[in-house]
Amino acid sequence: MKALVCILLLLETFVFVVQQQVDGGLNENEISQQISSEDGRQNPPQTDTLRVEASTDSQQYCLLGFPDIYASLRELTATVTEQKEKNRELTATVTELKENNRELTATVTEQKENIRALETQLRDEMSKKNEEILSLTLGQEELRKENRDREIAFSASLVESGSEYIGPFTTHITLTYKNVLTNTGNAYNPITGIFTAPLKGAYMFTIKVFGRLGTAAGAAIYKNGKLVVVAYDDHAQNELNSSNGAVLILEVGDVVYVKLWHNTKIFDDQYNHNTFSGFLLFPLQ
Ligand SMILES: *[C@@H]1O[C@H](CO)[C@@H](O)[C@H](O)[C@H]1NC(C)=O
Repeated sequence: MKALVCILLLLETFVFVVQQQVDGGLNENEISQQISSEDGRQNPPQTDTLRVEASTDSQQYCLLGFPDIYASLRELTATVTEQKEKNRELTATVTELKENNRELTATVTEQKENIRALETQLRDEMSKKNEEILSLTLGQEELRKENRDREIAFSASLVESGSEYIGPFTTHITLTYKNVLTNTGNAYNPITGIFTAPLKGAYMFTIKVFGRLGTAAGAAIYKNGKLVVVAYDDHAQNELNSSNGAVLILEVGDVVYVKLWHNTKIFDDQYNHNTFSGFLLFPLQ
């Protein structure tokens, strides 16, 4: 602003001098006076000498004004340099931030990839586990079915109602225990008196024989036509009791039944004195 005022002041002085010369000329003092009158706003003239001094001051003021421009320029240059430096720094920071951002983006992408991989792994494992659970469930179902297959047990006595003597006969005849007490698995047939093994395993069989009125009483367990054990009682007393039993290893389809011992007589009524029982102890492979 100071510089601008000086330039305008000098320009006006110059124009004035040129004009005076064109108009007929002024001596130096007159010119100075003229200039002083222009400058008179700040330094009102009192004498001619003062005017001259004032004029000199004005020139000095303006001469001093020029270095101010350079100073301003220097200042400006310094500011610009500073700004450039700051700009460089900012650019560097932005570049750094961009680099960080790139790295972060890469990390995020990587993490997303990891998560996807984990999800896939988890899904695979879950479906595997589900299959295992399903197979276990099926296994349980199979076990339940196997257990159901193992439910084999029966007991039967000779007569369903009333009382009955059987025998004596000269040969061994198969007894039909008609009064079924238990027949889980239906492996015992009350019409034929024959038990047929539904699966391979160890079975327990027992018989109880009861006779009356002095005639011997006896019966035997048979497996596939072969005698296994006999229960027999023979004495003069009124009641005759005997029993026997055996654990038998049976294949599927093997048959077990009871035959009345020859020349003996047995008796039964609602008290179920004569019984035939059997059950699976455990299956075998
Ligand atoms: C034989 O067993 C029957 C039960 O079946 C019983 O009533 C009777 O007293 C027993 N007889 C003897 C001599 O033990």
